[in-house]
Amino acid sequence: MEAIASISRPPPPYLPNVAKRARHDGSASGALGLPWTAPARASNAAARVSVHKPAGARPRPAPTLSEAEDRARRELPVWAGRTELLRELELNDSLIVMAETGSGKTTQIPQFLHEAGFSARGAIAITQPRRVAAITIATRVAREMGCALGTRVGYSVRFDDTTERGVTKLKYITDGMLVREAIADPLLLAYAAVLLDEVHERSVQTDLLCAIVKRAQAERRRALERARRGCGAGGGDGGGVAHGGGAGASPPSPPLKVVVMSATLEMATFSAFFGGAPCVHVRGRSHPVTCFYAAAPLDDYVEAAVTATLQVHCEEAGLRLDAGRDELPARAGDGADGDILVFLTGAEEIEAAAQLLNARARRLPAGCPKLLPCPMYAALSPAAQLRALEPAPRGVRKAILATTIAETSLTVPGVRYVIDSGLTKSRRFHAGKGVDTLQVVPISKAAARQRAGRAGRERAGKCFRLYTEHTFFNELEASAPAEIARANLAAVVLSLKALGVTDVTAFEFVQSPPRAALLAALEHLLVLGALDAKTGALTPTGSLMARMPLEPSYARALLAARAHDCVGPMLTLTAVMSVEGALFVRGGSGGAAGAGEVGARADGAAHDGGGGIAAAHSAADAARARFASQYGDVLTRVHAMGAAHAAGYNADWCRAHGLSKRTLASAERVRRQLCGLWARLVGPLAGAEREAAVLSEDERRGVRRALTAGFFARAAVRQPNGRYVALASREEVAVHPSSVLFSRKAPCVLFQELVLTTKRYIRELTVIDEAWLAELAPDFFDDDERA
Ligand code: CDP
Ligand code: MG
Repeated sequence: MEAIASISRPPPPYLPNVAKRARHDGSASGALGLPWTAPARASNAAARVSVHKPAGARPRPAPTLSEAEDRARRELPVWAGRTELLRELELNDSLIVMAETGSGKTTQIPQFLHEAGFSARGAIAITQPRRVAAITIATRVAREMGCALGTRVGYSVRFDDTTERGVTKLKYITDGMLVREAIADPLLLAYAAVLLDEVHERSVQTDLLCAIVKRAQAERRRALERARRGCGAGGGDGGGVAHGGGAGASPPSPPLKVVVMSATLEMATFSAFFGGAPCVHVRGRSHPVTCFYAAAPLDDYVEAAVTATLQVHCEEAGLRLDAGRDELPARAGDGADGDILVFLTGAEEIEAAAQLLNARARRLPAGCPKLLPCPMYAALSPAAQLRALEPAPRGVRKAILATTIAETSLTVPGVRYVIDSGLTKSRRFHAGKGVDTLQVVPISKAAARQRAGRAGRERAGKCFRLYTEHTFFNELEASAPAEIARANLAAVVLSLKALGVTDVTAFEFVQSPPRAALLAALEHLLVLGALDAKTGALTPTGSLMARMPLEPSYARALLAARAHDCVGPMLTLTAVMSVEGALFVRGGSGGAAGAGEVGARADGAAHDGGGGIAAAHSAADAARARFASQYGDVLTRVHAMGAAHAAGYNADWCRAHGLSKRTLASAERVRRQLCGLWARLVGPLAGAEREAAVLSEDERRGVRRALTAGFFARAAVRQPNGRYVALASREEVAVHPSSVLFSRKAPCVLFQELVLTTKRYIRELTVIDEAWLAELAPDFFDDDERA
């Protein structure tokens, strides 16, 4: 009966261009008849690495996990390497640890160091490229250690620090925050050890931190040796690191231990960078994952991901997706056993996919288990992220819709199926044009293997790639290039200058960035007024900018508010532009169940199809239109925040006005943090400046001028033919359809984002007076360039 049902099944109509060319590989897929091709080659190499497995000791259990949870914890692969790891760290200052995702690197290794006494004379910092990971992992580790978050275990991320100096021993910190700490404490004296996590991602900040930590380590080692030789403590011997603490009669600080942690094998670069540091490789425990490929390229990956999710959901439960409401199951399936992890690119696509899933899940065949879409991306509130990590109720299958965040930094338990769009969102900088763009780009082979590996953590799994086998083997790069090779380096150069590095072109990076990018960054900082034109040193403004947890252009614009009499409004603007969640959401009535938000900020990807997506867009656009400012999208956001503030952030009011209370609450929190920061760095704020009030006409003008002082490089001017040209790059750009200025074209605008899809779209616009450009950024616009 089962066999007949499965043989007589017509090809599913959902991916028509694929179905036609489907190669059914019964042996690998259990004759599911999915329109996928299974490869002849082993495709999950990353999950099958095997190197020697050192024996280790079994330390005591943690008090608050359940017995089973604690047993599982102690069975994590890194426990087998515990003894060796600690021994190596006793003998060496630096150590490289390689272990697959989910082995326990991030949660367990810091505890090993703590239990072995490494934290006796300083805290242990564990760096994370993403704030979400820092928060959720710190929360988990606090539970494992049986303490409240913010006591022995805490996190410090932009605009949110739960740690307490002297009390917090394990500090999960985003790398950008540790760079900022290093500006105030170049020897990192607060720490006994720094664990650099996720270094394989090669984020700019992690790369930079490696260099900073290495300098601090060398410097502390020298101080120790001097003390040992009896020279006593005192001044340094140059080397470029500014000497803050460490002087006086206090005993020299202990050597700084550095552990570099990675989920991939390409660690030679880091071992060499840290003076030939030994590598400990912990063998992971994973199960085989069978990979299926689309038989032909697909154009709309959101749509394809949704279809594939529903297909996997039904067919793994033994049903056909297109079965009638009262047909019997085609074969005995696994019910709702095993969750689906779907890799998409960003908040907007994820929310759109969640809505489509919710809508289509209502039409599933009878007897089909429930499907629960769980979005997971950086801008989501920590509570919502934790929800995605929790087990689904009995008889319900979760579909976790995630960005790259679930690739290596967060492990979602219970996943058995992976659907991989093969894409990720990447920020790229074009030094010649002076602009950043946000682009959806193909992932690397290494990343594809990581994604597939997520399906085989607990038992054998399946991975469905929404791209062809040919693409995988012939088109994907082996590994992603280090971000420093293609990033905007203004923030990096600003940090280096603040760390006392005079010649940034001679700085020892893990991998040197292109010289042109460094020079472009220097020039940009010069025009921003952060560097002195003669000496190249930081100006007082530059030094303030370096201490703000903001992009240099935002920091500059905020500081410019002083001259334009709009400090309070600029604090609101900075806060509302700093939060990542969607502000404008679908209106009060109607609305699909579940996650009903549509991201307005994250970039619009290259998909247009899908009535659900379009409808959700127009609902968000309607909410935006309600607060539309003639001065553009940025002021529209400020306007919405001011109105919400006046309404006391009341939940009903927010709903009725199509605003996300959650995003507003984060913006308000960020604003309060910024007020505190401003008071510390710049000076006291007037009472009115502390509130996110509705702006006066003068303030609106002040804000637009202050913004010009920071973002002059992102100006676009309307041409006689009605199109826009970006001044810095001289390229034609188009106003994004979501902009409030889409049909109300202004002569000159600033844009916050440049998104490459089918066109070069500019988003988040602000209307300015073109004359302000030459006035506020004369060095940038002083020549005849704009003729
Ligand atoms: O860093 P790495 O990828 O090696 O692993 P980890 O983040 O330390 O996670 C180790 C294990 O802890 C995961 O495989 C999960 O089983 C568990 N974990 C969890 O259950 N909940 C969390 N929030 C974090 C980790
Ligand atoms: Mg980790």
